[in-house]
Amino acid sequence: MKSDAGHNSRDHFSSQYGALVAIVGSAVGLGNIWRFPYIAGVYGGGAIILLYIVFVLIMGRPLMLTELTLGRLGQGNAYGAFQRMNAPGMGRLIGSMGILAAFIIMSFYTAIGGWTMAYIFKSASGGFAGASSQQIQQIFSDFVSHPVWPIVWQALFLLATMYVVMRGVSKGIEKFSRLMMPLLLLLLVVMGIRAITLPGGMDGLKFLFKPDLSKLNPESVMAALGQVFFSLSLGMGAILTYGSYLSKDADIVKSSKYVTIADTVISLLASIAIFPAVFAFGLDPTSGPGLLFETLPNVFGQMPAGQVFSFIFFFLVFIAALTSAMSLHEVVVAFAVEEFGMRRPVAAWLISLLIMALGVFCSLSLGIMSDFTLFGKSVFDLMDFISSNILLPAGGLCMAIFLGYVLSRPVVETEITSGGRYRPHLAVFYFLVRYVVPIAVFLIFLNGIC
Ligand code: TRP
Repeated sequence: MKSDAGHNSRDHFSSQYGALVAIVGSAVGLGNIWRFPYIAGVYGGGAIILLYIVFVLIMGRPLMLTELTLGRLGQGNAYGAFQRMNAPGMGRLIGSMGILAAFIIMSFYTAIGGWTMAYIFKSASGGFAGASSQQIQQIFSDFVSHPVWPIVWQALFLLATMYVVMRGVSKGIEKFSRLMMPLLLLLLVVMGIRAITLPGGMDGLKFLFKPDLSKLNPESVMAALGQVFFSLSLGMGAILTYGSYLSKDADIVKSSKYVTIADTVISLLASIAIFPAVFAFGLDPTSGPGLLFETLPNVFGQMPAGQVFSFIFFFLVFIAALTSAMSLHEVVVAFAVEEFGMRRPVAAWLISLLIMALGVFCSLSLGIMSDFTLFGKSVFDLMDFISSNILLPAGGLCMAIFLGYVLSRPVVETEITSGGRYRPHLAVFYFLVRYVVPIAVFLIFLNGIC
């Protein structure tokens, strides 16, 4: 374990590669494989994907570097790091929004994580073998609307997350991520190739990559923005917390670049595996959160040894979800441990119970509680909307302003370059953080609210 700058008591990633994989592990998850395709489908494909990529470049990447810088400079959790940077007010604001967001995201993230676990078992037991696409849709809707099973799987997913978080950063999170992420990438490529070569599959690619700009409206612009934050784990201090575990000589400019590229490539690959199947099997691209679970079993049915592939695939998605959920969980655990002196296992249990208390309603809102709506949205959609479209962009806005205007530029540059060891060009970064991110987030908010 590397310890530096006198912060010997804090756990750190054991190597730069390990740290990179862990950050990729946080970023790559259900956001890429489940949420990106379904959002792209709901908002009409090509145009929102193009917009998403633009947002990643002008906001995602600079904010990734911002959070890594703030975490490593402040050497603390989303709340405490700011105390150490002499900005307690900022810490209270960003820390509390971040912790609230972590709870809310976990409440539905664990529900979907649970679905992936259930699908591992359904694949293994041959549940999809020979099923028509209608039957596959039926299997999905029967499953999610059941009052008990989704909640049991959700709890199991949460327990798995908690187990890893309790083992600590380098032995738990880092080790898990390192093993599984490359495998996931490989399998997505295989699935993508199979999907494109399905009869009628090309229509899926057209849907994805032919932008129809008339489909953009304030709502879809906001959705693209929310997806950037969600997918790159930005805006609530998760990347900041991981940044605090990085060694002082790690090249964070490079890390932010690789993570952003890997995350975007995986989202696109997942869509390339899913949309051709949507069109080849005559399914509905706007079907929402069920999209992944209703389409891919059809593709497996068209592959030799589909059952085995299906099993491996959902297993890898589960691992990807787990490495992301750990980072969400870790934000709150690090906060409770460092700010309240709680013991790690106690904090982990307590937080899990609170997540579950909210999570049950998210699960049920897709079944027996589906008629219950607030502000015209189901509990599930509302939790997703509040966190991704409001709390995360607001947190990102605050962090950009803090780095861009409050911290002195020499301090920031020394941290980013590891004291002059690396020589990145920071002019564009500064421009984006000071002007583009705040103005864009603000305008999109305004546009979305009015
Ligand atoms: N980025 C993860 C995904 O795409 C989810 C996630 C993990 C997250 N940590 C986060 C989202 C922090 C927002 C903030 O699945």
